[in-house]
Amino acid sequence: MNTQSFSSAVSNVESKGFLDIELDPELDLFAAIEQLKKEKNAVVLAHYYQEPDIQDIADYIGDSLGLAQQAEKTEADMIVFAGVHFMAETAKILNPAKKVVIPDFKAGCSLSDSCPPPLFKTFRDQHPDHVVVSYINCSAGIKALSDVIVTSSNAKVIVESFPKEQKIIFAPDKNLGAWINKVTGRNMLLWNGACQVHEIFSQEKISRLKIRHPKAKLIAHPECEEPILKMADYIGSTTGLLKFSQTDDSQEYIVATETGILHQMIKANPFKTFIPAPPDNSCACNDCPHMKRNTLEKIYLCMKYETPAIHMDETLRLAARKPIDRMLEISAQAGL
Ligand code: 13P
Ligand code: SF4
Repeated sequence: MNTQSFSSAVSNVESKGFLDIELDPELDLFAAIEQLKKEKNAVVLAHYYQEPDIQDIADYIGDSLGLAQQAEKTEADMIVFAGVHFMAETAKILNPAKKVVIPDFKAGCSLSDSCPPPLFKTFRDQHPDHVVVSYINCSAGIKALSDVIVTSSNAKVIVESFPKEQKIIFAPDKNLGAWINKVTGRNMLLWNGACQVHEIFSQEKISRLKIRHPKAKLIAHPECEEPILKMADYIGSTTGLLKFSQTDDSQEYIVATETGILHQMIKANPFKTFIPAPPDNSCACNDCPHMKRNTLEKIYLCMKYETPAIHMDETLRLAARKPIDRMLEISAQAGL
């Protein structure tokens, strides 16, 4: 497929503009969503960065790998994806015959947006001897230009599945790529993309916080910049961070990732203290503005009206599916 067809064959969402509809304030949204799940044989998949109410009504909550694995095996007729666009797109790539709806079609991702397919294709074509490993936080157009997809849970295992001498391009997250280079001893060529949420943490404020909480461990997502990762006691995906908080014996943690994950951490460890890592300024910039577009009301409406729904060009879908299947296969072999 050439650059032209990738840029024009982007997947899109069909929206009937229900956002103007005023809901009855008396409506019990929790009960109404449960009812719709039964009526429509629908499953709600939610990322850990969703607001607590959404996590509580979800049938499955997870990191990007867990969500892709659930999307692959679900027998529901409708997948309600409470996350961002690239996640719902991945679910559609794996389930072309199912209806995949998202609560808000504007829930994008700064990291995914930092890597437009036509530019990336030019970059890839300049390095024909490299294989392309792409982080799942990218569009279907980028997936279709990749040899294998990774998430923060399996990136190390998948990169290590290539021979040491294999040249690799890693896109789009330069911070995750640099960390994988460090832990694998590779020298992958990195695309210059980053997540707006994970780039915001202040090294200086975290250092000051550590003085006030000397026993607190810093746990960080690998999308954070290197100076933060250097200070971290543990680095992992959202699922990795949650598991660490359950198995580690400290009582206090400074959490350098999006704040949504704290809901599960507190639920799993009611007697431990979790402090969101402070951002560089006074805004709540460690709340992802894209993830947080979703609300319980929008979940209810997208289920009721079955819109916005993900649609995708079939040629693009088939090309994007191959590297996802490869990721799922290697992950299963590795027991992930
Ligand atoms: P994981 O949940 O896979 O760690 O990814 C984090 C993220 O930024 C998703 O947008
Ligand atoms: Fe994208 Fe970052 Fe938001 Fe995740 S947290 S969806 S990587 S902008």
